[in-house]
Amino acid sequence: MSLLDPLFRQHLDRLDQRHTRRTLLPVRPEGAGRIRRGGRTLLNFSSNDYLGLASHPRLVERACDWAQRWGAGATASRLVCGTLELHAEVEAKLARQKGTEAALLFNSGWQANAAILPALFDRELLGGDALVFTDRLNHASLHHGCAAAGVRQIRFRHNDLDHLDSLLAQRAGEPGTRFIVTESVFSMDGDRADVPALAALAERHGAFLFLDEAHATGVLGPRGMGLAALGGGRVDLAMGTFSKALGGFGAYVAGSGALCDYLVNRCGGLIYATALPPAVLGAMDAALDLVPTLDAERARLQAMAERLRAAFHGLGIATAGSSTQIVPAITGAEEDALALSRRLEERGILGIAIRPPTVPPGTSRLRFALSTAHTDADLETLVSAVADAWSPQ
Ligand SMILES: Cc1ncc(COP(=O)(O)O)c(C=O)c1O
Repeated sequence: MSLLDPLFRQHLDRLDQRHTRRTLLPVRPEGAGRIRRGGRTLLNFSSNDYLGLASHPRLVERACDWAQRWGAGATASRLVCGTLELHAEVEAKLARQKGTEAALLFNSGWQANAAILPALFDRELLGGDALVFTDRLNHASLHHGCAAAGVRQIRFRHNDLDHLDSLLAQRAGEPGTRFIVTESVFSMDGDRADVPALAALAERHGAFLFLDEAHATGVLGPRGMGLAALGGGRVDLAMGTFSKALGGFGAYVAGSGALCDYLVNRCGGLIYATALPPAVLGAMDAALDLVPTLDAERARLQAMAERLRAAFHGLGIATAGSSTQIVPAITGAEEDALALSRRLEERGILGIAIRPPTVPPGTSRLRFALSTAHTDADLETLVSAVADAWSPQ
């Protein structure tokens, strides 16, 4: 019993009343887009394993091989003796594929965002304040990074670059370094930022452009390496993860050599954390080899998403601005999302309800994420199950 248990319980009771309490439900992967949960096999439309690489033999083999050859752990932080030759090799491969001068690995996407933003907004670096313009639907880790830096975000309406432009113009006379912080693919809506237009805006207003490519890496852009490449060299920092389409774990920053060297010196999340272990690096390395070869799989993924959106629209289900492998079915109310999720589970489908604070109040949804591990028949099973389970709100 901890001192605060009565307060924890009260808080959990409040969450129960609002239908927003979360619980951890263990699952077992069953291959090809399926998992076992609560004694049943379910078609899994809730993972971020967009290319089915989490169970790809090449990733598993290289992870095992590198662990066997170099051990289970990196034994220290990057700056002590944790930088193995393997880290440097994976970073060089990644920089080549992203087309940037340099790249730097981080232990997770959350950790990267939470730690990099405070390092960038450092007053000693900038010689003054940071003026930080952020998309309203940015991921929680980006909000966390801003909060940790103590900056007040200047939020623009989701993907509304006219609004961003006007906010930048309004502040034109103020001192401070401008930053635009946004995502190339939004995790809950599945829509994309207009990267060329963002890059042009950043150029015009002299702003540093930070792009989170967590859900684009592996899936979109030239050779599947994300949408930052569409920014014509004007994306200052692209971060992304290995934990979603790349099937493994960990994150990266791609950008200039000076940026990466600066982060090595000033980014607490890199300096004070044990380096990624060899098995994780092995999976990263194999994923980087595979991703450029998967154009046909990427095209199929987007065709499946197109089919799902069309089916949902036919049923009168709104899919927000989705134009990627992430297709939300918006229910609005929390309890409707939970009820639909339950009805789908009864029909053998895992579709997790996403509720506030992950999404804005009144926009609860089921977030369906497609994977090349799904067959066309799996997709049709999903469509029929939703048609059967959906009751107009
Ligand atoms: C946009 C975005 N950025 C960062 C992260 C965090 O990445 P990771 O899961 O590797 O910690 C996520 C994960 O959900 C995300 O959706």
